[in-house]
Amino acid sequence: MTKKILILPGDGIGPEIVAEARKVLDKVNAQYDLGLCFEEDLLGGAAIDQHGVPLADSTLDKARAADAILMGSVGGPKWDKLDRAIRPEKGLLKLRSSLQLFANLRPAILYPQLADASSLKPEVVAGLDILIVRELTGGIYFGEPRGIRTLENGEREGFNTYKYSESEIERIGRNAFEMAMKRNKRLVSVDKANVLEATVLWREVMDRLAPDYPEVTLSHMYVDNAAMQLVRAPKQFDVMVTGNMFGDILSDAAAMLTGSIGMLPSASLDKNGRGLYEPCHGSAPDIAGQGIANPLATILSASMMLRYTLNQPAVADAIELAVSKVLDQGLRTADIMSAGMVQVSTAAMGDAVVAAL
Ligand code: NAI
Ligand code: MG
Repeated sequence: MTKKILILPGDGIGPEIVAEARKVLDKVNAQYDLGLCFEEDLLGGAAIDQHGVPLADSTLDKARAADAILMGSVGGPKWDKLDRAIRPEKGLLKLRSSLQLFANLRPAILYPQLADASSLKPEVVAGLDILIVRELTGGIYFGEPRGIRTLENGEREGFNTYKYSESEIERIGRNAFEMAMKRNKRLVSVDKANVLEATVLWREVMDRLAPDYPEVTLSHMYVDNAAMQLVRAPKQFDVMVTGNMFGDILSDAAAMLTGSIGMLPSASLDKNGRGLYEPCHGSAPDIAGQGIANPLATILSASMMLRYTLNQPAVADAIELAVSKVLDQGLRTADIMSAGMVQVSTAAMGDAVVAAL
């Protein structure tokens, strides 16, 4: 059975880092006989230059037909002056909403070789491996009504609506329980049920789902405490699940515990596990075209694709092990370089991962 992978390199460093992830995918495709077939298309600024829009209908059709999508990054100064409606980022947002990618997975893993990159003490973060599951298409970022209105007394008031339906909570909840099943079977659901009714319902639905996953230990935590615990003792967490806004904030905080943006992958999944995989960072126009970008976040995104969409956990493990080996060898791109290590280019880093495989 062949699996269709759509590759969207995007802008800036996107094409450079995606080329390295592609080398890794080609290697495991041959090595493990995965039957992956690849197609490439334009997204973001590159698509604007070609078609006048950041996501062409033909590209969206290909995305719908694909089993998984690997993306680089979009945007850059060249397109900053365009009207907001046709900016590169719009292409990515349209892709996410059209494909109903409601489950955003953001792992925060601290590689022991990079322990000194973290802002926390080594003993607090050593061995850190957290997965944050963030609801991506609902909650206060999308809730209606919203806006800025003028009150009777003439004062203006800004307002948004925080709401989640039972079915929205259930689908992200099931996703998180399933992620926990594939990991250490511990799930912390983060809410603010002492203040927000929407999250009282959130907590209720999580509790209702729990008996379907008897192996998983579910606990609940208020978001303010979760923020504190992430900084105080982050290793207590395995999988965390939360709504759109809390997840936005907590996942950025958790990511920074690892210290290096060039190492952080992500996935956004639909209800069938189809997904869009991309590094957490942007298109880094300041270093584009120099061959110095770190391709590991994109390579690790490809590994997440094998784990979560293509059901090849052993191959995903092999890629992660290869990345770890390369770090053991002392190879570093500029962003993670430290004393005594060997600085290598984007392409040399990709080649080293392929060799380690
Ligand atoms: P950025 O993540 O592109 O860059 C922030 C800093 O990190 C820069 O100094 C950059 O050189 C460095 N950096 C990022 N990725 C790196 C890598 N793989 N290796 C080494 N260094 C790396 O964020 P910034 O500068 O705020 O945004 C630049 C452009 O990217 C903007 O147009 C923005 O809209 C877009 N962007 C796109 C995203 C996406 O495609 N999902 C996400 C975030 C930003
Ligand atoms: Mg954010």
